[in-house]
Amino acid sequence: MNPYLKDFPILNTKRDGKRLVYLDNAATTQKPDSVLRAVDDYYRSSNANPHRGLYGLSIRATQMYEDARSAVRKFINAEKDSEVLFTRNASESLNLVAYSYGMHFIGEGDEIALPVSEHHSNLLPWQMVAKAKGAKLVYLYPDKNGRLPQKELDKIGPKTALVAVAQVSNVLGTVYPVEEIVRRAHAAGAVVVLDCAQSIPHYPVDVKKLDVDFAAFSGHKMLAPMGIGVLYGKEDLLNKMPPFLTGGEMIEYVSEQDATFAPLPQKFEAGTQNVGGAVGLAAAIDYIQKVGYDTIMKTEEELLAYTLDGLSKLPHITVYGDTKAGEQRCGVVSFNVDGVHPHDVASILDSDGVAIRAGHHCAQPLMKYLGVNATCRASLYFYNTKEDIDIFLESLKKVRGWLGLGA
Ligand SMILES: Cc1ncc(COP(=O)(O)O)c(C=O)c1O
Repeated sequence: MNPYLKDFPILNTKRDGKRLVYLDNAATTQKPDSVLRAVDDYYRSSNANPHRGLYGLSIRATQMYEDARSAVRKFINAEKDSEVLFTRNASESLNLVAYSYGMHFIGEGDEIALPVSEHHSNLLPWQMVAKAKGAKLVYLYPDKNGRLPQKELDKIGPKTALVAVAQVSNVLGTVYPVEEIVRRAHAAGAVVVLDCAQSIPHYPVDVKKLDVDFAAFSGHKMLAPMGIGVLYGKEDLLNKMPPFLTGGEMIEYVSEQDATFAPLPQKFEAGTQNVGGAVGLAAAIDYIQKVGYDTIMKTEEELLAYTLDGLSKLPHITVYGDTKAGEQRCGVVSFNVDGVHPHDVASILDSDGVAIRAGHHCAQPLMKYLGVNATCRASLYFYNTKEDIDIFLESLKKVRGWLGLGA
């Protein structure tokens, strides 16, 4: 019995009499009681507009918001609270870097290097920059195991101004060699934007050790509510970047024709902020730390090996990326069933209470590279069990039969 299951109310509910087997954790994770309670408590006892009021309740809301920032700073081992910006999600964080850094510090002839597996959120912002500034997108192509060969990493060179990379691919589950990418990028004088959306729920992320220039992630993929995300940026870079969004809270002084801006982090936090979300994120960090990354990684590696092994015994299944569990592989498994559209697979599994994802996973250039339009994707978290995987595999066995195709 998984000891954490009891903490997640939704995982203990039934749908049409069937237990929910939730294998769409790369899309969003479920929330433990402690996170739900923290958000509820905040709204019941401490809600006020932060940074604005001079009365006790607002000061308390401000304190909770800033405490959440400190919790994130410690969690990712950033140097200063001012290097931690709250956003709505990883997408907004990445857009912030593209619009505020990319549009001002990338120029004609510069290259932006990125794996072809990037989520659209770490690809489209760079397309916009490249188009606006006359820069070139240089793609790095993974091998059939989802790894980036040396010859692809060699594309990071003197013309590279920025490398955008996900620590973990949301389709292939590959853990990319971030340390090596950072070394090569910095040697070339380029900055590195790390998309941690799929890594930080599963692995510790130490921004100082990795020496990345920016790092982005979403709270909702790591047990926190939707609507809160983080951008880490090195202070010297954030200081020289202009604001992304403008409006209330982010100014120092405004005259009719001009404005000066607040210091970090307020310069990048225009308008009323999501204090409830930040409080929920701090509670999620607390929960993850209590479970411990060692336990999370060990549980998921066992579950991943079990899933890949089960899939390898089924006929008519193609798995994309590495078919073996290991250090360079996270619990995201993309696959297809011969002759069946992924949407049909997902619908049939749903009738057994199994929730998986089907589609292009916001990675259409990767789909094209893999020669498919879409895949099914089962993604794991530490609250999943071998029983979940058994139900998933049993349901999968029925798919072709349902559609009148041979077993
Ligand atoms: C690797 C990766 N980056 C970025 C994102 C975007 O996250 P969000 O939709 O929370 O902004 C996702 C979402 O699935 C993702 O998997």
